[in-house]
Amino acid sequence: MLVLREGSSRSRGKEAQHANIMAATVVAETVKSSLGPKGMDKMLVDSFGDVTITSDGRKILDEMDIQHPAAKMMVEVAKTQDNEVGDGTTTAVVVSGSLLSKAEELIQKKVHPTIIIDGYKKAAEKALELLEKIAIKVTPLDKEKIKKAAMTSMASKLVAEYRDYFADLAVKSVQQVAEKRDGKYEADIDNIKVEKKPGESLTDTKLINGIVLDKEIVHSGMPKHVKNAKIALIDTALEIEKTEFDAKINIESPEQMDAFLKQEETMLREMVDKIVATGANVVLCQKGIDDMVQHFLARKGILAVRRIKKSDVEKLAKATGGKIITNMEDMSRTDLGHASLVEERKIGDDKMTFVEGCKHPHAVTILIRGGTERIVDEAERSLHDALCVVRDIVEDPKILAGGGAPELEVSRTLKEYSGTLPGREQLAVMRFAEALEAVPITLAENAGLDPIDILSELRARHEKGEVWTGVEIHTGKIQDMNSAGVFEPLAVKKQVIKSATEAASMILKIDDVIAAGKMKAPPTPPGAGGYPGAGGY
Ligand SMILES: Nc1ncnc2c1ncn2[C@@H]1O[C@H](COP(=O)(O)OP(=O)(O)OP(=O)(O)O)[C@@H](O)[C@H]1O
Ligand SMILES: [Mg+2]
Repeated sequence: MLVLREGSSRSRGKEAQHANIMAATVVAETVKSSLGPKGMDKMLVDSFGDVTITSDGRKILDEMDIQHPAAKMMVEVAKTQDNEVGDGTTTAVVVSGSLLSKAEELIQKKVHPTIIIDGYKKAAEKALELLEKIAIKVTPLDKEKIKKAAMTSMASKLVAEYRDYFADLAVKSVQQVAEKRDGKYEADIDNIKVEKKPGESLTDTKLINGIVLDKEIVHSGMPKHVKNAKIALIDTALEIEKTEFDAKINIESPEQMDAFLKQEETMLREMVDKIVATGANVVLCQKGIDDMVQHFLARKGILAVRRIKKSDVEKLAKATGGKIITNMEDMSRTDLGHASLVEERKIGDDKMTFVEGCKHPHAVTILIRGGTERIVDEAERSLHDALCVVRDIVEDPKILAGGGAPELEVSRTLKEYSGTLPGREQLAVMRFAEALEAVPITLAENAGLDPIDILSELRARHEKGEVWTGVEIHTGKIQDMNSAGVFEPLAVKKQVIKSATEAASMILKIDDVIAAGKMKAPPTPPGAGGYPGAGGY
């Protein structure tokens, strides 16, 4: 009996599971080679021919136009990881892939997927507990260890050479926007504006205590810099608004014409008068500014910038302590924000406006410079990872050493734990433990080291109770990662376990894939002109 529409396809049971696992592991295989400091970059070309060069797991998967539904779930893993903690996207995908291929082995041995899922769930809970237990506590505003963690996150990126410099910027900026609430620090990295301009070199990247706008001053007659700025932040247009309906005005004499223009001018002049009355010497406007208004403002010596992004206006309000003015009628002196300097500077070929020395320095800007557009773009992504890592630690001040050490320690504990479980779940927990070893194996493989030698030595040394032994990729040595100073936020590793387990379980739970056939356009009868009922036969 046929229940599905013609053209639909269906695969069930083992066949469906196998296909899904294959698709997901193919994705994991693709990003695998970019894990760790010696990982390779990928060059991605989109349908418009635009090129991106990156080693960022999330970006790679975003740019790959993935079709297979199970493979798409791996893309989701990277997205969740990025949104939650900002780093560890490649690791999360590699671990999910590894969990799935280990599960496949068990399925071949006739272990039912639900048992594997239950086992994985137990293993993940145990792993999270253990990570929490071995984590090293730091103070939220600790400089040295947090900086090292930021450096670890950038070790695998294009900017690795300058990671010391960039890590400093990341730590300084996050700690500046961090605020203490109920005894805990909160850092909203949305308050760190990242602007980029190709030109000069990566080391010319700067942290600016204030907001940088990628806009120039509107009128050449205005001052190019204003000290002790009193800033009006306006989100309405400084123009005569057009009516929504079409209107016609009949003008019959030159006097009438003159009067009409005069009236427009008066209205615009009134706007300027209102601004002047508040004592503002800088106008930052979200919408447009009429030529005539620009001219009047320039005559009064007021600096103005127009068409500023809404998000930037909000940041400016926060930084300068000003109120956003939505109605020109009730604008007053108390709405003004303050900054010690507003200035237009030439950066590369463009002019940008700097608002510096703000009243509340809880909003800052990092202006990224670098040789080419691609370098600047990748530097932005790397900086994003570093900012997230610093934020993660400031908000939850616990760290782990990296280089595969935590994965091996968890793996060892889980193997022990599996012995206490009855029946087949034991097998699943055991496979989970093995799957985590994919991290040190991949790190070693990517660095051209022998993964088997490394893994066996790591296992042996963890057996001896060396919790932080991992593989230092730059030297190729097996050593205490704590003294090597390779740190990562606990939050990142915990999220890796959570997202990888969830994705793997979700894929394992599927035993039936029903795909609707592609919608086909109904055939047009010859000479019918393409509209229904026109065929005539
Ligand atoms: N010097 C080092 N020695 C050994 N391992 C290192 C070193 N520096 C970083 N690592 C390890 O590299 C891994 C992180 O690599 P990478 O940043 O490429 O991937 P990710 O963080 O999972 O994904 P992404 O950064 O793309 O979101 C971590 O496991 C970390 O411990
Ligand atoms: Mg990383």
